[in-house]
Order: sequence, then C-alpha cells, then structure tokens
Amino acid sequence: YSTPSDPACALPLPEGTTGLPIIGETLSFVLEGADFSRKRHALYGDVFKTHILGHPTIRVRGAENVRKVLRGENDIVGTMWPDNFRMVLGTENLAMCSSGPVHRQRKKIVMRAFRHDALEIYADSMQAMIADTLRTWCRGPQPLAVYPAAREMMFRLAIAVLVGFHQDEDEISRVGPLFKTAVKNIFSLPLNVPGSALRKALQCRREIDEWLKRHIHEKQAQIWRGEVPDDVLSFIISSAKDSGEKLSDQELQDTAMELLFAGHETTSSAATSLIMHLALQPQVVQKVHEDLEKHGLLQPDQPLSLEQVGRLTYVGQVVKEVLRLSPPVGGGFRRALKTFEIGGFQVPEGWAVMYSIRDTHSASQVFSSPEQFDPDRWGSVDSTATRYDFLPFGGGPRACAGKEFAKLQLKLLCVELVRTCRWELADGKVPETKTVPVLHPANGLPVNFLSLD
Ligand code: HEM
Repeated sequence: YSTPSDPACALPLPEGTTGLPIIGETLSFVLEGADFSRKRHALYGDVFKTHILGHPTIRVRGAENVRKVLRGENDIVGTMWPDNFRMVLGTENLAMCSSGPVHRQRKKIVMRAFRHDALEIYADSMQAMIADTLRTWCRGPQPLAVYPAAREMMFRLAIAVLVGFHQDEDEISRVGPLFKTAVKNIFSLPLNVPGSALRKALQCRREIDEWLKRHIHEKQAQIWRGEVPDDVLSFIISSAKDSGEKLSDQELQDTAMELLFAGHETTSSAATSLIMHLALQPQVVQKVHEDLEKHGLLQPDQPLSLEQVGRLTYVGQVVKEVLRLSPPVGGGFRRALKTFEIGGFQVPEGWAVMYSIRDTHSASQVFSSPEQFDPDRWGSVDSTATRYDFLPFGGGPRACAGKEFAKLQLKLLCVELVRTCRWELADGKVPETKTVPVLHPANGLPVNFLSLD
C-alpha cells in the first residue's frame, strides 16, 4: 500500500473529465466506441482520466506506459472484473484468479493444451471444419452476413477443440443458444432478480455446467485409464495430474467456460476483419495465392501440417496486419494496488487503469502510415522493437492463453478462403464498427461468396 510520503502521491492527476455523478462518462464510453478514447487522447495526450463503469479510471496508451501496467501485475496493479463476469463466468478460472502464484501454476496447466504438439493434434480437424463451413457459405443465399456466420463457425470450433471433434449435432444446437444468451446478458445491470438479464444468464450457466460436468467426468475417467489426451479439456486434466494437482469440477467448469467465452468472440471478430481487409485488397489475395503456390499448397482440402503453415510467411504477415489494424480487444482493465506514476502523472490507489491496445497500435511511431493495411510492413519490422507497440494479445503474466491457437485458426481460415472461394463486399463500403464486446461491423458485413469449385 502507498503512504502519503510516496513521491507518486505528489504528482498531478492526468487531465480529463469525470462526467456526471455515479455514471460518469459510461454512456459516451459505450456509445462512442473507438472515438471515445481517440478524441480524449487527441485532447489530453497519452494518459487521461475519466469515470467509467462505476470507477474513476486512468486510461493509457503508448508502448512504455502499457509495458509498465502489464509488467506491474501483482506489484502495482491487480485484476478487476465486474461482478456480472465473476458470477456468470465463475471465479475459478485464469482471468479472475487474482493471486500471483496460484495464477502462474494454473496458467502452466492450461497452456499445456495450446502447446505445439497439442495444436498439431487439433489442426487437421480444424482445417476440415473451416473448409466445410466456407463451402456452405458459398452455397447458401447471398449476400451472407459474415460476422454472425463467423461467430457460429468459431463457436463450433471452440466446442470441438474443447471437448472433442466428434460432437453430436443435437448437443451443439442445444448448448449454442444457452451460451449465446449467457454472453448477451452478461453486459447488464448487476441485478440477480426474477426476470432480470443477469438471472437469465445465471440460469443458462447452470445448464451449461450440467453439460460440462458430463464431459469432465468422461475425460477424467479416460485420463485415469491412461488414454492419450486429444482435446483441450483432457489435456488440462492430464497436465494437472502430471503436476500432482487434481482440479475440482468447479475449477474445470469455470476454466472451460472461460475458454469458450474468450476463445470465440475474439476470433470471430478477427475472422470478420480478415475477410473484410482481403475483400478490399485484391493484390493481397493475389500474394497469398502466390505464397500457397510457391509451397505447392493451392489444392483445396490438401491437409497442412503446422510446419507447412509456419512456412507460409506472407499468410503470417496478413494475420498480424489484421490484428494490428483491427485488434478485436480494445484494451484491458486493472486496479491500482498502490499509488504509482505513469507518464509523469499520479495513478491513485484503488482507481481503475485501462491499458489501450487499439490506441497504442494507431499512435505507435514504429509503423509508418499506420492506418494502411499493408502486410508487407512485417517483412522489415523487427519484432523485438514492437514488443509493446503491437500487443493484440496483451502482454506480461496475463497475456492471452490462446494466442497460438487463435493465430493458427486465422492462418487456416486465410488459406482455405483463398484456395476455395472468391468474395466481395456486397455494398463495396467499409462498414461502421462497434467495439463492445469486441470490434465488429455494425451491419454484420454482408458479403457475396463464390465457390472456385
Ligand atoms: C487473455 C486477446 C483468443 C483465452 C487475453 C487478453 C487479450 C486477449 C488482449 C489479455 C486481457 C487483459 O490483459 O486483461 C485475444 C485475441 C484473440 C484471443 C485478440 C483472438 C484473435 C483467445 C483464445 C483463447 C483465449 C482462442 C482460448 C481458447 C484467453 C484467456 C485469457 C486471455 C484464458 C486470460 C489469461 C490470463 O488471465 O492469464 N486474450 N484472445 N483467447 N485469452 Fe485471449
């Protein structure tokens, strides 16, 4: 804890306004999307104060400031989640886990499910699912609203990777709507009364738990019989067993719920942006085509090993550029554990701190013409120099657990798109975007798809 004699306590607060009593500037924050912080950064610089979501908040952008927040985990900042998230997603998962050593140990266990050898096991089935979905997109009525369709695809992929690829269609059709209702109602008033949005979300969570529990017990039995894990849940159970821990049902349920939540909204956003940027840049599609041709991978349905995916340098650059220009997650929240200095200003103990991903990318001096979609820029950028200038997956101890898995999904999508179809924006225009819960096109992105078959 800080004391009044701490030098940081003598520093001024950053500029900015705190708006109306109690609600502060929450309405502008929700309604203005990306403009909220863009306008304020233009007025006040890299660090400003505001009052959003019930907390006085300091918002920061810029590699140095963001690095300080992310590397300061457990020392100057800790986690901060709204009550609704804690109630619906549970508290026994990675993101809500507040203590340093417990978080570290749990993360090691979860990350086992996203290591190279585990991804290699999922890759073939992921690729087949993506290719099948693209075929149904081409065959269906046109134009297709890409964002809802991508959410459906990414949810199915997330379930398949979590509990296994041989899922009963009826089961997915039953769990999908439960999950959608839970997520939709999480962004609501924290009122658990009959008929309230939060009560609906909690009812769905109870039903999802019943479904998860069945799978967890099945996987536990398989692992204790000595079977080799081949999905995320069984990797987590087996990795906990190997490190001498037995995670409780609640811990496994909360972790699975978190992975489904964190793992499909974000990737749907990135998939939609990928399809949009490529539709607007035919020369980029042409270069992806050349990258595939060079490696003899143009044949639709030809399976790709992780090694082959890794060799597709240009495809990797396309995915990076999508995540730089259209990062799905705008930033992250923390709570100041003590009063500290940032950019010459005071961050008072107990205040919320929001580090910005989107504004850090767009204000970075490392990227020339940052508003342009240019995958070639990654051919010359030194990745160590961009460590905190480019951070779509956050950074420090709480960096994204699923980032390698997410990148693989996006690369496979890029490959399958280019070798199986052609597509164009139905109205030819770049759509307006919304930023909550993740970046997405306000009109759903209507696109006309044509199969190359
Ligand atoms: C954390 C972004 C995909 C699981 C994060 C954070 C960001 C992020 C920015 C850090 C938030 C913070 O600092 O508070 C993304 C993006 C994705 C993506 C842009 C896709 C393009 C995934 C996937 C999974 C996943 C596919 C799992 C299957 C998680 C988890 C955390 C996390 C568990 C919490 C980690 C911790 O607290 O230690 N993600 N994510 N994410 N992400 Fe992702």
